[in-house]
Amino acid sequence: MLAGKRILLIIGGGIAAFKSLDLIRRLRDQGVKVTPVLTKAAEEFVTPLSTSALAAEKVYRDLFDLTDEAEMGHIELSRAADLVVVAPTTADLMAKMAHGHANDLASTLLMATDKRVLIAPAMNVRMWEHPATQRNLAILTGDDVLVVGPDEGNMACGEYGPGRMAEVPDIIAAIGAALGEGPLKRRHVLVTSGPTHEPIDPVRYIANRSSGAQGTALAAALRDLGARVTFVTGPADVRPPIGVEIVAIETAAQMLDAVEAALPADAAVFAAAVADWRVENASESKMKKDGSGQAPALSFAENPDILATISKGQSRPGLVVGFAAETDDVVANATAKRARKGCDWIVANDVSPETGIMGGDENRIVLISQDGAEDWPRLPKDEVARRLAQRIADAVAG
Ligand code: C5P
Repeated sequence: MLAGKRILLIIGGGIAAFKSLDLIRRLRDQGVKVTPVLTKAAEEFVTPLSTSALAAEKVYRDLFDLTDEAEMGHIELSRAADLVVVAPTTADLMAKMAHGHANDLASTLLMATDKRVLIAPAMNVRMWEHPATQRNLAILTGDDVLVVGPDEGNMACGEYGPGRMAEVPDIIAAIGAALGEGPLKRRHVLVTSGPTHEPIDPVRYIANRSSGAQGTALAAALRDLGARVTFVTGPADVRPPIGVEIVAIETAAQMLDAVEAALPADAAVFAAAVADWRVENASESKMKKDGSGQAPALSFAENPDILATISKGQSRPGLVVGFAAETDDVVANATAKRARKGCDWIVANDVSPETGIMGGDENRIVLISQDGAEDWPRLPKDEVARRLAQRIADAVAG
């Protein structure tokens, strides 16, 4: 999918720069032309010679290198690529990008480019968490800069936390998503996923066993077909996919707000296991035993039905897909649900404990549409996601 693409790779000065050499190698394996740029600080970590040898390309290093200007000016260099990737992106590079500095080759290219920019930040955990870096991150994402990572883990400096550069396969996946040439290119798809948590008091909540695996796999599959994906997720067990816009929420009410804020969309997939009820009399402070032996009385209020609200609302996406987890009469219940909620398709599955589907790696679905019920074989959740994403692409872009 990436063959023939051109990437301008700006390597910043950090210990993670060594991973960028591997990135170059793996991109070239996929037929990508990589033009490397080293910052002055990067040269302390990797040599121009090794970078150029791996890329089989000239390495650009200096804004005022007249030979380069004669061969290819910095403006042209910034635009000759399909995508600009900055890996590793240091705190300093993020600050320069956010504030429009152009005082060396890397920052000037980033100012001059007319292409999308993907950054892979890498820095000490305190530097990443510093309010200045977080402010710069917000500015950059607001400017439509794409971000992959950082990952959490042990760091070269001996500390632990977020700050490690994303792993090379994740960066390649993010590059693929950024260049998304698939049938859903320029389409916006909304996906809800995971459980919701409904508070009882500040430390307790009501939840369900949804892992978020199917919704996460779907968001990734839609991304891989080129869609811009907004992923509204409750507190799930699985990590959200990279290369999608993540909106993390806890309650059903917050999920509805996030979904409404994300519209318009070409398609919406409601894979979340939303709690039907919330505690109406949730306590502001932690509930305590008072010694009387009397259990607290919780009263419940019905949550908004997000799928039905959006299906029947003003800004209804062209295609609305709901999920139905059933334990019996799957097809009949799901067919009735499709009509009641007003969505186009229902992805129905049997979540009886003996199926092992809830929380498991496989799924067996029945796709209910106006054409009736279509039985799919039992498949890994990733494969269900790929097939569903393709069907969505056929319906939306076909
Ligand atoms: O009614 P039931 O919960 O079985 O319907 C499942 C479908 O409805 C799923 O697509 C789920 O995401 C959606 N739903 C919702 N808001 C609710 C309850 C369910 O969007 N409050």
